[in-house]
Amino acid sequence: MALQQILAKKRRGQPLSTAEIEEFVRTASSGEAHHAQIGAMLMAMSIHGMSEEEIQGLTGAMVKSGTKMEWEGIAADKHSTGGVGDKVSIPLVPILAELGLKIPMISGRSLEYTGGTLDKLESIPGYNVNLTIEEMKKCLETCGGFISAATQDVCPADKILYSIRDITSTVDCNGLVTASILSKKIAEGAKYLIQDVKVGNAAFYKDTQSAEELARTMIATAEGFGLKMAVSMTKMDHPIGRAVGNSLEIIECIDILKGKHFPPDLMELIIELGGELLVMTGLASSFSEAKENMKTTLKNGKALKRFEKLLINQGVNENVANKICSEGDYSILPKAKFITEFLVKEKGYVEKINALSIAKVCFNLGAGRNVPSDRIDHAVGCLIQVVQGENVDPGKCWAVLHHNTPLDPKIQVEMDSALKVSTTSVPHTSILIKTIR
Ligand code: URA
Repeated sequence: MALQQILAKKRRGQPLSTAEIEEFVRTASSGEAHHAQIGAMLMAMSIHGMSEEEIQGLTGAMVKSGTKMEWEGIAADKHSTGGVGDKVSIPLVPILAELGLKIPMISGRSLEYTGGTLDKLESIPGYNVNLTIEEMKKCLETCGGFISAATQDVCPADKILYSIRDITSTVDCNGLVTASILSKKIAEGAKYLIQDVKVGNAAFYKDTQSAEELARTMIATAEGFGLKMAVSMTKMDHPIGRAVGNSLEIIECIDILKGKHFPPDLMELIIELGGELLVMTGLASSFSEAKENMKTTLKNGKALKRFEKLLINQGVNENVANKICSEGDYSILPKAKFITEFLVKEKGYVEKINALSIAKVCFNLGAGRNVPSDRIDHAVGCLIQVVQGENVDPGKCWAVLHHNTPLDPKIQVEMDSALKVSTTSVPHTSILIKTIR
């Protein structure tokens, strides 16, 4: 069937067959389809929704548009829909590699307020995010994991569809999100996946119900490809951990791997997501065993050693990797010219640290990008000095901003509004909403 006829069928709200979806993806990837036709199809899919068969068909067609990798061992991965200060992947890869998994992590860059794992890692001089398939294979053999960008051959159809979704307001269609994420994980050769779906004011999904719909769609689709997965829905209202901003987040990750820094929300996420994978793959017989084993890799320094090896494998000079990981000397990482402290104004208990406000401030100072070609300033970021529920007095420093340009007075206003202090005590709540398996 010609593309115009396939488009007309979907416009009328009729479900497409797998062959029709494959024809759409083929014409989109080969350049035969006009961008207007691709946009029209994506809009019709968003408006009418997608059946399970259509989502399966789209996922499979996107995998087939490029190379599918296969690895020896238990290949597993983690993915997040993205959050403020979400650096979980960086300590998690060496921890899980140390415990026997192979982690072929294909990761992304930041866009708007959400940080990208590759940008954070590129704060480290020499870090190469563009591994070839041969280099990826070597990394898995020698270190058990890598964190790299997708090669040109991984789901090329996703690249074109994603760029058109971005400009046609069709990003938030569950079928399209599912096919986009899963096709890349299937193509990278993962057999197990833990997906973190963020829910909250600084997340793509604002409520649990819409996040749960995505979770169920993803699990059903993954099953059809032999990809075993679970989805954890987690809160994204407060910045995760203490650091927001690329270079500062790398320092926080290394401090965690050294076993000397335990921000409670971030540790809960690392343990929850890693524990799910270890139990799912059979490398731990229970969640409590998984948790103990993960903590041991931090205490005995083995996860840190893995990370040092990962850095060297990915192009970081041995002396630099050693300085950062073994000597704890971070002077080689980008550092901002200015440091500004923000002080608590009222006495009480920390109720809220608005992640979206912090992300906007960092973004406006250069920590993020508007369009893929923007350059980012790795040194810019914010260190949060308080945790939710903490009893604070006026004058206490609650945030330290690292910046390279003078601060606009509007930033003081945005920062002041980001901290909410309550006169009554604030109970500790878990970052985990629920896990669906
Ligand atoms: N991440 C992706 O790779 N694709 C989406 O559609 C959403 C998040």
